[in-house]
Amino acid sequence: MRTVAIANQKGGCGKTTVVINLAACLARENQRTLVVDLDPQGHCALGLAVPEEQIEINIADALLSDDGSFELSRVTWQISTNYDLVPSKTNLAKLEATLAGVDGREKRLRRLLDQVRDKYDIVLLDTPPNIGFLTQSALYAADEIIVPVDTGYFSLHGLSKQLDTIREMRSTHGLGLAVRILANLYDVRTKLGREILAELRKRHGDAMFTSFINFNTKLKESTSLGQPITEYDPASSGCKDFLRFARELISVGPAGTTTLTPGLSLPSLSSTAVMPARSVRVAEPDEAMLERAEALAADANKLLATTETLLGSGRIPQLQRSATPPTPAETDHKIDLIYGAQAISDGAYFVVRADRANSVRLAGDFNAWNPTMTPMQVMRDGIFHVKLPLAPGRYRYRYVVDGRWMNDPANHAVERNPYGELDSVVTVN
Ligand SMILES: Nc1ncnc2c1ncn2[C@@H]1O[C@H](COP(=O)(O)OP(=O)(O)O)[C@@H](O)[C@H]1O
Ligand SMILES: [Mg+2]
Repeated sequence: MRTVAIANQKGGCGKTTVVINLAACLARENQRTLVVDLDPQGHCALGLAVPEEQIEINIADALLSDDGSFELSRVTWQISTNYDLVPSKTNLAKLEATLAGVDGREKRLRRLLDQVRDKYDIVLLDTPPNIGFLTQSALYAADEIIVPVDTGYFSLHGLSKQLDTIREMRSTHGLGLAVRILANLYDVRTKLGREILAELRKRHGDAMFTSFINFNTKLKESTSLGQPITEYDPASSGCKDFLRFARELISVGPAGTTTLTPGLSLPSLSSTAVMPARSVRVAEPDEAMLERAEALAADANKLLATTETLLGSGRIPQLQRSATPPTPAETDHKIDLIYGAQAISDGAYFVVRADRANSVRLAGDFNAWNPTMTPMQVMRDGIFHVKLPLAPGRYRYRYVVDGRWMNDPANHAVERNPYGELDSVVTVN
């Protein structure tokens, strides 16, 4: 039995979409497949039309049992032939606190899965968008990890750090690494999409699956209607992508993974010693990418100029356009300065990048978390902003992008809410 965790701290990169649809395709390829949902948001059950009110016990109950005697079959639902699901519910979010200080709590999942070794060929673990106890349990239980990345600008931002975190967590337990990246939400029509995919391949080489998943609205629709893509629209490009990916995963097998021993550096992979011959060194970003970075930096400068009156000159260092194109790190830095929430003299100023979004709203302590009260204005394509007058204090907030709640990707100040999600935090002085 292969155990595969799908992990990425970023919400919205497609973890749940990958789990639900990859499982459906694996099942179709005669793999006896089990999905275990470790995200308290319970999106797997939702995406597979398992009625929430009928889920009486769930993975949280199984993980509460300390001797591994809880029978996993008690919380297992059959979705279709070869396709089973162990769902989660919001009470899973409380488990971390309940088990705080309990020795070996992150080893419980692995022990539970031992019960079903002969019953399944493959187990997929969906994880929440943070590195808490639940993701740690998944990383400990898994032999392989798939990191889905969206191919928007932010995919390169923080990815190496993300991979490092996973590496550290696995090596703490003396586990080897079998981490691979799956490009998702690929939009072949945009130049940026094509460049990002090329750049990912350059930087992460053999750690990437050959297959990738295109942006396909059918995938969105199928999940919201509670069906895997194999049922909703087998002729769609989304279904073809997932079938191709499932076949690749089966054919490479666990032995084909880029297995690294603990302590060696991960996919910023300069460690050719552990990589197959056709593997890459860390490539310098190519010219197209640099051009794109330059354009982004120019954009950043323009945005800074727009926001300077608001934020007061001197608040943000004036960024000069230099003769040499900025490095991606410099561009990242500039972008960090613009996006996020900044305290201003009489409130806070919020700027968020949300490619392809129609509407972005702001909800938080200041508007009783009512997502209709604070619409954000379009600053330019895919960039939304709003200035809020606020009394001094500490405020938690989230963005609502086309109806979907998310924390601020550009703000590292976060706090876990009772639903196991992250709220962003801004302090006004
Ligand atoms: N390849 C894709 N094409 C179109 N929409 C996608 C694709 N992958 C994910 N999505 C959509 O993006 C959103 C976030 O995906 P989701 O799987 O919930 O991410 P995560 O579990 O990482 O938070 C969902 O609305 C989902 O339908
Ligand atoms: Mg999810």
